[in-house]
Amino acid sequence: MSNIARHIAIIMDGNGRWASERGLKRVKGHERGAEVVRTMTTYASNHPEIEVLTLYAFSTENWKRPKMEVDFLMRLLSNYLKNELKTYIEQEVRFETIGDLSRFSPALRKQIEINKEETKHFTKLTQVLALNYGSHDEITRAVKSLCERREEITVESLENAIESSKFGPVDILIRTGGEQRLSNFLLWQSAYAELFFTQTLWPDFNPDELESIIEAFKKRHRRFGGI
Ligand code: IPE
Ligand code: IPE
Ligand code: MG
Repeated sequence: MSNIARHIAIIMDGNGRWASERGLKRVKGHERGAEVVRTMTTYASNHPEIEVLTLYAFSTENWKRPKMEVDFLMRLLSNYLKNELKTYIEQEVRFETIGDLSRFSPALRKQIEINKEETKHFTKLTQVLALNYGSHDEITRAVKSLCERREEITVESLENAIESSKFGPVDILIRTGGEQRLSNFLLWQSAYAELFFTQTLWPDFNPDELESIIEAFKKRHRRFGGI
């Protein structure tokens, strides 16, 4: 039986370099990157195997960037969620998030809630945006909540307390942009993910490349510690 690409997670890296290579401001790369998010989500929602697409959009470390870039990303996210709500509905995509939303503006949090509420009954695809997400933060929050509830810490209780666990283990983890690191993304859920690193910068990523990654994934021998 070949591997099923149920949950695909992507570290969408390389927007800044894509823009710099063209003599453009970094934010132009983020703009183009947002269009690729739409294309890939629509593609995934029509794919027979993919049930969950988790996209790393903003890390707990990305606040270190210049204020102008952070402000731009917040505006881009807010506009994206507003403008794309109709696409989520047309494509029957359920919108979800992982990450600590408390650091976002009330207006942005409200838009996030609206998109979740309006799409919560869709089952074709769940798109999970990782927003102010970091695995260290997520695992720390999970341990804290177990301690507060005086629950025993076991692999199962910790897994259940980790927010992103509800979307299940990652089958394919892709990083675009050429770096070969995880940058604090889905450390728990990627324990047995198949890793793919591509030089392609996120604004140039496309469904054909995803399809060739899925093809390669099918040929991999996943042992999960067995033989
Ligand atoms: C990824 O692209 C998008 C975010 C982290 C928001 P980058 O902005 O990291 O692009 P590079 O890596 O600098 O090219
Ligand atoms: C990872 O990319 C975060 C996102 C894609 C949102 P970064 O560009 O922030 O990662 P590093 O700094 O190169 O590790
Ligand atoms: Mg980067």
